[in-house]
Amino acid sequence: MRPDDTRGPATNTHPLDVEFVRRQFPALATPWALMDNAGGSVLPGVVIERARAYMARYQIQVGASYPLSVEAGERVAGGRAFAAELIGAAPDEVVLGPSTTANLRTLRRALAPSLAPGDQVIVTDLDHESNIGAWLPLRERGVELRTWRFDRARHTLELADLEALLTPRTKLVCLTHAANVVGYVHDIAAITRRVHEAGARVCVDGVAFAPHRRVDVKALDVDFYALSLYKVYGPHVGLLYGKREHLLAARGQNHFFIDETQIPYKLEPGGVNHELTASLVGTRAYLESVDRHHGDEQGALDLDRVFARFADHEARLLAPVLAYLRARPNVRVIGPGPEHDARRVPTVAFTVQGRRASEIVSTIDRAQVAVRWGDFYARRAIEGMGLREQDGIVRVSMVHYNTPAEVERLLAALDAAL
Ligand SMILES: Cc1ncc(COP(=O)(O)O)c(C=O)c1O
Repeated sequence: MRPDDTRGPATNTHPLDVEFVRRQFPALATPWALMDNAGGSVLPGVVIERARAYMARYQIQVGASYPLSVEAGERVAGGRAFAAELIGAAPDEVVLGPSTTANLRTLRRALAPSLAPGDQVIVTDLDHESNIGAWLPLRERGVELRTWRFDRARHTLELADLEALLTPRTKLVCLTHAANVVGYVHDIAAITRRVHEAGARVCVDGVAFAPHRRVDVKALDVDFYALSLYKVYGPHVGLLYGKREHLLAARGQNHFFIDETQIPYKLEPGGVNHELTASLVGTRAYLESVDRHHGDEQGALDLDRVFARFADHEARLLAPVLAYLRARPNVRVIGPGPEHDARRVPTVAFTVQGRRASEIVSTIDRAQVAVRWGDFYARRAIEGMGLREQDGIVRVSMVHYNTPAEVERLLAALDAAL
C-alpha cells in the first residue's frame, strides 16, 4: 500500500520550477499575489483551451449514434477518467456534480432510505458547512445527529473525542480531511479504521486537502470522499467518490427509468456539465507537463511524484509565514503548534489581539496581496473559537504556484498591518 496522508512533504532532487509553472496560468499575469487559493485556484491555460474546444465543436447531446455525438461522449468520458485517476478510483465510482455542497446533499438523499429512526450520524463542528448542513435534514427521519467537537486548544479533531460518540447505532461519520480554516491534515486512514471497527462508514470532505497532496481513496479506505475540482486547477465541478458497493446500494436520484445499477449516472440528476467535464483532461495535461519538465519522463504521469513536488515547494512557502506570525506577540495562529507543521497544508489562519480581521485585510489589500477574512462558511468552527465578534480570522492560503517573492511581499504587508 502507498503511504497514507501521514507522510510529510517528500524531498525532491529537482525542486519545483515555479516560473515554469506560473507560465501555464494566464490569470497569474497580474500585479496581485493571489493568496486566497483555498477559495478557488486559477486555471492552467490548457484547461480553458479544452473547454473552449469542446464548446466550439461539440455543444450537442452525447449518447447518439452519429459520429460527432460519439466523439463528444468520448471527450466527456475522458474527463471523468481523469477525475477517477486523480483520486485512485474507477470511473464508475466518481459522481460529478456542480459543487461539493450539491453533491453531499444528493448523497444524503440517496442514503436516507437506508437509515432508520434511532440511527446515529456524526458531524463535526470544525467542517465547512457543506459536510454538516447536508446531513441535518436526516433528523426529520428520526436519525440522531451527534457533534464531534473539535479540540478547543489545538483546533483539530481528536480520535479520543470521537470514541465517546460511537455506539452500535452509529452509521456514518462525516469529517474533514483538512479544515479550510486550520489546514491541519487529520489522519484519515486511522480514523477510518476506527469507524469501520465500530461498524459505521466515513464521508470525508477533502476539499481543502486535495489541491496540495495526492488523494488515494483506496489507501485511505474511505467510503465517501468529496472534493471541488475548481480548487485543484480545474473547472467548477464537484467530485464525489463512493465505494462501488455503496453507490450501487444508494437510492438513485435521477429519472425513474435510470436503473439502480447505473452508477454513477443514477446519482447525477440531469447529467454532468459536458464542457467542463471534458476540460478536466486539461488539468491532467498540466500535471503531466510539470512531471515532464522536471525530467520525470520515464513512463506515465506519476501523480504521487507531482504532488510530492508541490508539497515540497509549499512547505518552503509555509515555513516563513508561520515563523513570522508566531514571532509576533499579538498574533495567534489557529491550529496546533510547530511540532505539527509537517501535517499542515499551506493554509494559515490567524487573529490579532484587539483588532478585527477585516481591518487587517484591508491594509494587506493595499499591497496587492489577495487574502481574505471571515468564517469561510466554517461558521460553527469560528463560533466555537469565539471569533465571530472580531470578524473571524485572516486566512492566507497558498498553493504550489505561489513564490518565495510573494511570501516576502506578504510579510512586508503584514509588517504594515500588524
Ligand atoms: C473545506 C471545504 N469544503 C466544502 C466546500 C464547498 O465546496 P463547493 O463550493 O464545491 O460547494 C468548501 C468551499 O470553500 C471548502 O473549503
